[in-house]
Amino acid sequence: MTVDKASSKEELIAEIKRLKKEKNAVIMAHYYQQGDIQDVADYIGDSLALAQIAAGIEEPVIVLCGVHFMGETAKILCPDKTVLVPDESAGCSLADSCDADEFAAFIKEHPGHTVVSYVNTTARVKALTDIVVTSGNARKIIESLPEDEKIIFGPDRNLGNYINSVTGRNMVLWDGACHVHEKFSLEKIIEIKKEHPEALLLVHPECKKPLQLIADKIGSTAVLLKFAKESDAKEFIVATESGILHEMQKQCPGKVFIPAPSTDSTCGCNDCSFMKLNTLEKLRNCLRDGRPEVIVDEVLAIEARKPIERMLELSK
Ligand code: 13P
Ligand code: SF4
Repeated sequence: MTVDKASSKEELIAEIKRLKKEKNAVIMAHYYQQGDIQDVADYIGDSLALAQIAAGIEEPVIVLCGVHFMGETAKILCPDKTVLVPDESAGCSLADSCDADEFAAFIKEHPGHTVVSYVNTTARVKALTDIVVTSGNARKIIESLPEDEKIIFGPDRNLGNYINSVTGRNMVLWDGACHVHEKFSLEKIIEIKKEHPEALLLVHPECKKPLQLIADKIGSTAVLLKFAKESDAKEFIVATESGILHEMQKQCPGKVFIPAPSTDSTCGCNDCSFMKLNTLEKLRNCLRDGRPEVIVDEVLAIEARKPIERMLELSK
């Protein structure tokens, strides 16, 4: 058994870099990871970018710093590779809001519908799906389908409502949500707006409609980052998980990013407790020990892979 001794941040980073070389591994991190993890990663991105990059990785080991469905997506796309995650209990409240058996019954209640699922789902839900989407490509993919196509969309009701409103579709929505994005406080954001009247409000489509209605930009983490970079504005209120502020600040050094608070936060920001389970120490441990490993049943993976590949094809 390996006994952990306390290491400084610099020692941990050096060890992670050494182990990564030794194990011929790549580290991928979502924008919601703590800044130190993003800085040590080979690739950072939103869910779409992480899936696209994973599909083309050559190294035999992928360490996915994010939440479980992200590791699962990488494993489904790369069944011959070892996919590791720093903390296997890093789940997702949105994926949890869509039980596969209940979703199968929902699909049965709506015969003749194309099933479109957000990537924040389990492999079992993906296996029931025709096309997977992310917040970065949902609009484009829905618009590529014939206008009269009947569609079921799950599990995020806020993203689904948003896509319905911008495309004029009438997709049947599963009633799921993310506990982080639903908790942003409209009142507190309006207060911040009063203090910073020039600040633009950036909103992830998993947020509730009232927030979407006052947003200056709605989009995935990558879309919001690009908007902040290209905008002439100097101040932004950011209504998505606060991890994204790290890369925003890095890419836009002269600009000010204010995290939007949640209804119950005292710290003035809004963190995903699942995303923040990952630490540098757990990342070092998983590289060193080769676990926790993401395992997906092979037969299930074949079915779950089809709608993800369709998404990758339609996002080109
Ligand atoms: P992105 O699609 O912007 O990466 O968002 C993923 C996610 O989990 C949002 O909560
Ligand atoms: Fe899931 Fe919400 Fe966390 Fe994103 S922020 S990983 S949707 S719980």
